[in-house]
Amino acid sequence: MTRNWWEEVVFYQIYPRSFADGNGDGIGDIPGIIEKLDYLQWLGVKGIWLSPHYPSPQVDVGYDISDYTDVEPDYGTLADFGRMLAEMHNRDMKLILDLVLNHTSDQHQWFQASKSSRDNPKRDWYIWRDGMDGGPPNNWESTFGGPAWTYDEGTGQYYYHYFLKEQPDLNWRNPEVKEAMFAAVRFWLDLGVDGFRLDAIGTIYEDPDLPLHESQYTALDVLRAGWLHDEPDEGVPMQEIVRDLFGYQHDLPEVFDLMAELREVVDGYEDRFLVGETSDVRFLGDGTSHLHSIFNFDLTFQKELTATRVRQIYESFRAKFPAGTWVSNTLNNHDQSRVATHFCGGERKAEWRQLTGALVLFLEGLPLYYGEEIGMEDYAVRSFDEVRDMVGGVYRELRLADGVDEAQIVKELGKMSRDRCRTPMQWDGTANAGFSPAGVKTWLPVHACYEDGINVEAQKEDDDSLLHFYRTIIQLRNEHVALQSGRFRDLDPDNERTLIFLRESPEQTCIVALNFSDEVVSAELPASNKVLFSTNIQTGNMLMGNVELSPFEVLIADVI
Ligand code: GLC
Repeated sequence: MTRNWWEEVVFYQIYPRSFADGNGDGIGDIPGIIEKLDYLQWLGVKGIWLSPHYPSPQVDVGYDISDYTDVEPDYGTLADFGRMLAEMHNRDMKLILDLVLNHTSDQHQWFQASKSSRDNPKRDWYIWRDGMDGGPPNNWESTFGGPAWTYDEGTGQYYYHYFLKEQPDLNWRNPEVKEAMFAAVRFWLDLGVDGFRLDAIGTIYEDPDLPLHESQYTALDVLRAGWLHDEPDEGVPMQEIVRDLFGYQHDLPEVFDLMAELREVVDGYEDRFLVGETSDVRFLGDGTSHLHSIFNFDLTFQKELTATRVRQIYESFRAKFPAGTWVSNTLNNHDQSRVATHFCGGERKAEWRQLTGALVLFLEGLPLYYGEEIGMEDYAVRSFDEVRDMVGGVYRELRLADGVDEAQIVKELGKMSRDRCRTPMQWDGTANAGFSPAGVKTWLPVHACYEDGINVEAQKEDDDSLLHFYRTIIQLRNEHVALQSGRFRDLDPDNERTLIFLRESPEQTCIVALNFSDEVVSAELPASNKVLFSTNIQTGNMLMGNVELSPFEVLIADVI
């Protein structure tokens, strides 16, 4: 049976600014990544999702691109990129790039031309409108807070931006825009990259009639709810708030047609993969026509994980998927709190770190965010000077206008600025966690937890570390087809404390049993199983029917 490679590989998300600093300037780079490929291979990773590596003024740390067919000078050159890709392919690793189609940087030459005059040929490449009653064209908000429109003095009109004002939205209804972007897509495919993660893909089109929203909520309410895991108003589902506030600004019907066109471009090459930053199954088309996969973000939005919640979320999401498509489960990424802080911050930290690791690895597809394998924690910025996520800048302005004092704002940003999960990778126990040489100021501070054993070198030496746990279960997944692409079947759907499921493939069946509770729970398993891994039972032991799962046990077995 032929399988898609993306069903087999464990993906690892590299945030290039923070992963490995090859030239010792305090900023991660491509030569640094190349040096660490042996480590990733040792870990068992076989797919890389690289966050944006393109030239950028870095206002949104690379998600504001100023040239789609080159490499950010801080990270290296196109030749370095080619070397990295070859080194990855030599190790049998795939590489997918982050593709930001919705907007460019305001420094991109397309936007510079567009804003230079109303009759510039590129004027219509972006979304320009006249103001209304001395203000913006309508009441739409940017998802990062404040109006979605910024006034341009030079030409006397407003331009639209769903994200920061430094990220103007492209006008995808202009065929020249599509042509230019598809050319960029082909550029990277021609170089041999294996696919793309499509950034903020639902935001490509907005209602051209600019209807006013009638929401009582603001973008800040939504931001805080999403990033602090704090519902703004008990009883009003988040999706409803988002729909009322941003409904005219994303997931317009045209975007699905565009996905089909993009799929055609990508299908012109062999075996390439598209995963969209969305949880809307319409992006999957009929299973063969649009994207191959989308993310299950609901897991990341939970305050805490329980067996019941995970089961409900995964199964209801999975049920909507057309045949042949693939769920990318995730517990975090460069926008979300780190798992160690968000889900494992209370009691039984060590056990929760293992349980959450096993959960994402064995549910279905996943990307593992850099540093999760050693249990890196959120960093709380201590002053405004440390903030690099410029959403923090917008947040500060809006909170100051609300009369909140600076110290309180910094405290809030400590919790919700996305800098929290973007600090440098912790490689060893020396100064700067071995990311950059001692004395170098890294672009974001290194988290002090590297001194408490949360670093690669210390954990490599300790067989009982989280890193070894990850390596063991990744290898297990790599060696068992059922654990990669086997069909999910819940064995005990009413159990509130444990999630026990089969992964069934034509060749083999495996059991995954996860005890989410601090109690011993007895579980009924199929008649005869061999333990492949357990946090409690010796590998190789045979289990017959009933087992007692120890608190927070992770058990993987082969049904024989
Ligand atoms: C996506 C990215 C986020 C970025 C935004 C704008 O949501 O994950 O980091 O700020 O798009 O590009």
